[in-house]
Amino acid sequence: MHVLITGAAGFLGQRLTRALVVRGELSGQPLTHITLIDQVKPKVPTSSSLEASSHAIDITLPGAMDAVLDGRPDVIFHLAAVVSSDAEADLDLGLAVNFDATRTLLEGCRLRGLSTTRLIMASSVAVYGGDLPEVLDDLTALTPQSSYGTQKAMSELLINDYSRRGLVDGLALRLPTIVIRPGLPNAAASSFASGILREPLSGKDVVCPVSVDLELFVMSPRRVIEALIYGAEIPGHDLGSRRSLMLPGITVCVAEMLESLRQAGGDEAMARVQHKPDAGIEAIVASWPGRFNNQRANALGFKGDFDFREIIKDFLDERD
Ligand SMILES: NC(=O)c1ccc[n+]([C@@H]2O[C@H](COP(=O)([O-])OP(=O)(O)OC[C@H]3O[C@@H](n4cnc5c(N)ncnc54)[C@H](O)[C@@H]3O)[C@@H](O)[C@H]2O)c1
Repeated sequence: MHVLITGAAGFLGQRLTRALVVRGELSGQPLTHITLIDQVKPKVPTSSSLEASSHAIDITLPGAMDAVLDGRPDVIFHLAAVVSSDAEADLDLGLAVNFDATRTLLEGCRLRGLSTTRLIMASSVAVYGGDLPEVLDDLTALTPQSSYGTQKAMSELLINDYSRRGLVDGLALRLPTIVIRPGLPNAAASSFASGILREPLSGKDVVCPVSVDLELFVMSPRRVIEALIYGAEIPGHDLGSRRSLMLPGITVCVAEMLESLRQAGGDEAMARVQHKPDAGIEAIVASWPGRFNNQRANALGFKGDFDFREIIKDFLDERD
């Protein structure tokens, strides 16, 4: 089994690589070869007994992915993307990475007859937006309110059509907001969702820019990686003609997140959270769906987090 990962130097790409190497198989087939690509050369796991190759490739350049596709991967995890704020700031860059490169990848599979290759793209909750029902499901119309969400939605449609035509075996998984993301805070509007837990648990002060009754639809990094791998194994006929789905997140309000913080870190951790509302951040985050009916993902066997305490426990276990 040969696996190709785009965006392999990124947050999820590195985690996915490690998880696949530890697992050593997919769908009962031994993993023999893993190809990692990113614009910066991805790290290759040292303990790996399988053949691993790593390449610095800008996937927007003509022909850039030809050589790795000539290796005829059985599974492609397409994780390379520019994230929401960058795609909003630079329309050309967002289109090139988030949409054109997906199309190039699909065409590359078509030209090489990779009709049974499972192509999994990481899509996003950002394909939804604007005036939404209180509870969404997989049939809710895609009405993205950002260039990033639009580029992901267009890629989803194309993956669906190439799969319908039997040119590739595609699947777009819509990721909820991922918490707790380790590392440093970043400029993303969702950064606070990890920050209000990660920073106090690390003894640092943090600002909570949103009201405590704001609801978020979240999933832990561990469950996202498990779901990406599960997505590689699920038979195409189980997916039918709809090749996109929302992963089973859980709904939590900020007050519940902070209560879990208190349980994990005590009053000392809670005292590190200062409440300073930021109308700009609140407006962006409040436009994202907070509640989603996970029926389809559950029926297909995808697993979400049990509750928010499990997410905090995961973070603490990983950190220790
Ligand atoms: N992390 C989240 O909360 C979240 C939520 C929803 C969807 N997603 C999606 O999941 C995927 C992975 O997200 P992540 O958090 O690991 O992001 P990340 O930014 O850490 O990783 C993305 C990687 O893509 C690479 N990349 C960007 N442009 C490239 C180019 N031209 N050529 C080659 N590589 C390029 C970057 O170098 C980076 O390593 C993305 O598709 C993202 O849209 C993430």
